Amino acid sequence: MKGKNYKFFKSLRFRILIILVIIGIVPSVIIEKGILDSYEDRAVSLRSSTVKTQCDILCNQLVRQNYLEDTSSEVINGEFALLSNVYSGRILIINKDYEIIKDTYDLEKGKTIISQEVIQCFKGESTSQYDRRNNYIEMTVPIQDTETRDIYGVMLISISTNEIVASLDILEQKGFRLLTVIIVLVLIFGYILAGILVKPFARVTKSIEDLTDGYLDENISVRDYTETELITDAFNKMLTRVKSLDDSRQEFVSNVSHELKTPLTSMKVLADSLVGQDNVPIELYQEFMQDITDEIDRENKIITDLLALVKLDKKASDMHIEKMNINDLLELILKRLRPIAAKRNIELILESFRPVNAQVDEVKLTLAISNLVENGIKYNKDNGWVRVSLNADHKYFYVTVADSGMGIPKESIDHIFERFYRVDKSHSTEIGGSGLGLSITRNAIVMHHGAIKVYSEEGEGTTFSVRIPINHIV
Ligand SMILES: Nc1ncnc2c1ncn2[C@@H]1O[C@H](COP(=O)(O)OP(=O)(O)OP(=O)(O)O)[C@@H](O)[C@H]1O
Ligand SMILES: [Mg+2]
Repeated sequence: MKGKNYKFFKSLRFRILIILVIIGIVPSVIIEKGILDSYEDRAVSLRSSTVKTQCDILCNQLVRQNYLEDTSSEVINGEFALLSNVYSGRILIINKDYEIIKDTYDLEKGKTIISQEVIQCFKGESTSQYDRRNNYIEMTVPIQDTETRDIYGVMLISISTNEIVASLDILEQKGFRLLTVIIVLVLIFGYILAGILVKPFARVTKSIEDLTDGYLDENISVRDYTETELITDAFNKMLTRVKSLDDSRQEFVSNVSHELKTPLTSMKVLADSLVGQDNVPIELYQEFMQDITDEIDRENKIITDLLALVKLDKKASDMHIEKMNINDLLELILKRLRPIAAKRNIELILESFRPVNAQVDEVKLTLAISNLVENGIKYNKDNGWVRVSLNADHKYFYVTVADSGMGIPKESIDHIFERFYRVDKSHSTEIGGSGLGLSITRNAIVMHHGAIKVYSEEGEGTTFSVRIPINHIV
């Protein structure tokens, strides 16, 4: 269960859901806060300006009735009481000596007040301050003669904003409820939407699984998104490669079985014909036994070659790299093959353009070059030649094996490196061979990170050229 949860939190669906929630909820919260703030600002400024107008009117009356000299006016005191009642506030009247001559709370009368706001107000500027923490607005209004502009005193009034705060609370609650609804809706729709968005990926997985289980034979295709298209295309490419590998493996197995069976069939035919006859002359026995021995040799060679190939298919770590003189190595190869060449009077020539010392696997390189020279001898005419040359630059050394033989037809050139491939099957009995020699050669060269190329003209001869790095690349 724990694993399943973890999987969900790691899924694309969950990520999309988170993104949708962020996109949906963050703006809603910001908007809610913005609306509440601007409501508060607006309400406070509206309240201030209403009160200010009333204070201005009242101040006019104070000047006209000379209230600052005589605070006993019933009418004005009544107006003060009304104003402070309506706005649940408090009014102080301060005279030129900064003395409080009227306090609607009757607490501070007779005291002196010197605050910054009051001083500023005596200069003719009314002030207004909103104390959000304690929920009140404090204003000062100059008591001024409208004609002479003389300031006789200051009216200091503080009014409560409890009402505004109460409305704000209600609005906030409503906003919170709305926000909760939005969150729930975003979660539900986000979950569904994320599910729809990631569905094509689930389809890709399902297609691959169906293919693995064998319900599908062909390529898969999920074209909903460019991404899924790319994934399925890449998968199909891999599938084609796996199929072709599988085909070539099957072909190889059937070729091996066939090649191994051919000598056995010949032996069986030869042996059967001896067993089936009475009084077989000793000469016939000897001749058939010689044929059987030849077939055993052939079988043996195929198995040896196959084993060599299998070894070459293994990892590069099987390489035994040593620095050695390539001129000597080629000399030795030609020396070993000279007796075979001599049988058909074929000349083996070695041309060394410079001494070459390189890091190679002696056994594998010898095998590779020997196969080429052997072919040069085998597919040659009597009295012909095989020329091996060695050259090098600062990075690679080059070996070419050229012969004066029968050449390779154009249509066969691309196939000669394939396992068991032989150019003319009718030749195969005449000139023995299993068709594995060149595969072994190429594998050995590839393991040295080298390359092999072939040029051939039918009836004229063939040249194989090999390029191998002087310093082995690990
Ligand atoms: N120098 C060459 N001249 C002409 N044909 C060649 C030459 N080298 C190779 N071929 C052709 O390529 C085929 C494949 O060569 P490869 O060496 O792989 O096999 P093989 O010689 O038939 O058998 P093996 O080398 O295993 O005994 C040969 O059967 C031959 O037809
Ligand atoms: Mg060969």
